[in-house]
Amino acid sequence: QDPKLYPPGDIVFLDRGEGTTALIHLHGATIISWKCNGVENLYLSQSSVFDNKKAIRGGVPVVFPNFGPWPLGPQHGFARIKRWSIAVPPRKDHNGDVIVLFTLDADDETLAMWNYKFKLVYTIVLTPTTLMSTLVVHNKDTKSLGFTCLLHTYFRVANIETTAIEGLQGLIFSDKLKDGKEVKETRKQITVDKNYDRVYKDAPKTLFISSGPDPARNIELVTFNFPDIVVWNPWEQKAKEMSDFDDDGYKEMICVEPGKVIVPITLEAGQQYECKQTLICKL
Ligand code: BG6
Repeated sequence: QDPKLYPPGDIVFLDRGEGTTALIHLHGATIISWKCNGVENLYLSQSSVFDNKKAIRGGVPVVFPNFGPWPLGPQHGFARIKRWSIAVPPRKDHNGDVIVLFTLDADDETLAMWNYKFKLVYTIVLTPTTLMSTLVVHNKDTKSLGFTCLLHTYFRVANIETTAIEGLQGLIFSDKLKDGKEVKETRKQITVDKNYDRVYKDAPKTLFISSGPDPARNIELVTFNFPDIVVWNPWEQKAKEMSDFDDDGYKEMICVEPGKVIVPITLEAGQQYECKQTLICKL
């Protein structure tokens, strides 16, 4: 992803040096690129519509206040289709790591859908080998509020056939393509060869996503306060049915999405909830 492809007012560019960069679009505070030593690790559909209305197809959209279909508003909530503010512009700390803070506050549009005053603070830190994304949800209302949230991370892979996810063995997942039927995962390495839409519960804090061979990517995914992991790939037919998804894109991506989606969080007035994903680029 080349920052020059986007209107300068729409994106924030983080540069750690030596080919380690990140690009964040203010529409949804969507991270649309994370390169580690020159290698792109996120999938972004070339058919994605950048109209500042539709959710960006790829990168790391922020899902809040609802994962999935929702009677009060659009699927996966509104955070991914709102324009976020830059609370603290990118700056380097004493180590040379780059940090930036974004915020999203309730406004007339969100209050009309979901009548709660909230504030989201989203901090992104880029180090030579990691991309850290921390989301803090603040209840700014005088009443309690309930929500689910998730970071809808689209990993870029060289070839879905050689892609494996490790760390989910022994967990119970519900298969959204089979009416939420619960199944125990028996495999050490999860490989995907068809339309997948599964929600794993009580996942460990560390997972591994490996793919290759050209380029080989080994990513460690470390989570905090995200007990659920969604694994999604639309596969050939569903990819074709989505106008903003490249027809062959399913071969080059896997979504591994840390979330708090099975049991919603309830925040009393004034309380906050912090959750985080760290992506670590391993050699
Ligand atoms: C996943 C869901 O997180 O996102 C899927 O589990 C859904 O059910 C997918 O199809 C994509 O959603 P959307 O709204 O971005 O097309």
